[in-house]
Amino acid sequence: MTTIRPFTCEDMLYFNNVNLDPLTETYGLSFYTQYLAHWPEYFQVAESPSGEIMGYIMGKAEGHGENWHGHVTALTVSPDYRRLGLAATLMNLLEEVSEKKKAYFVDLFVRVSNKVAINMYKNLGYIVYRTVLEYYSGDPDEDAYDMRKACSRDVNKKSVIPLSHPVRPEDVD
Ligand SMILES: CC(C)(COP(=O)(O)OP(=O)(O)OC[C@H]1O[C@@H](n2cnc3c(N)ncnc32)[C@H](O)[C@@H]1OP(=O)(O)O)[C@@H](O)C(=O)NCCC(=O)NCCS
Repeated sequence: MTTIRPFTCEDMLYFNNVNLDPLTETYGLSFYTQYLAHWPEYFQVAESPSGEIMGYIMGKAEGHGENWHGHVTALTVSPDYRRLGLAATLMNLLEEVSEKKKAYFVDLFVRVSNKVAINMYKNLGYIVYRTVLEYYSGDPDEDAYDMRKACSRDVNKKSVIPLSHPVRPEDVD
């Protein structure tokens, strides 16, 4: 049976099997510990019965006024455990936390080439709110979609009216 539980510092010693995926960003240890310290409720891991890390989600709450929102910083599931509904379960958890915090919406950034993830987010109710040009550094740089889903607090769904024009990374707050 899969266990969903809070991520701990020790998990950073065991998540290589998940992070080796080329579409999964690997950050410095201080980045993960910063999230653990500030937003532990947004950092959850799925663990197999044998204790293997199957996947995890890491996020935060940020913004002011009607921009107060939940943000998905990382979501990844090991190739061995895909198409079991794990990502959908972890996203649902993050959305529930965001609802409790009275966020207006949940958002995330995804590479425009990551068709599997984009399709998954659309199936979970997210829309492409805007394109962020050259958001991902590389050779060449790659654009991101900023995808959003409104929370119940955004009664008129104002937060998910797509922008008609792309923006630059420095315009994203
Ligand atoms: C994207 C990712 C997180 C999906 O994880 P997952 O646990 O396999 O996803 P789920 O099983 O919860 O899938 C939920 C829905 O998304 C869609 N979906 C997921 N993977 C899909 C695929 N390979 N092809 C088509 N649809 C897919 C389906 O609609 C699926 O529902 P269904 O299985 O009932 O049809 C996983 O492929 C992954 O870790 N990819 C690498 C990292 C990454 O891209 N992260 C997102 C960065 S923003």
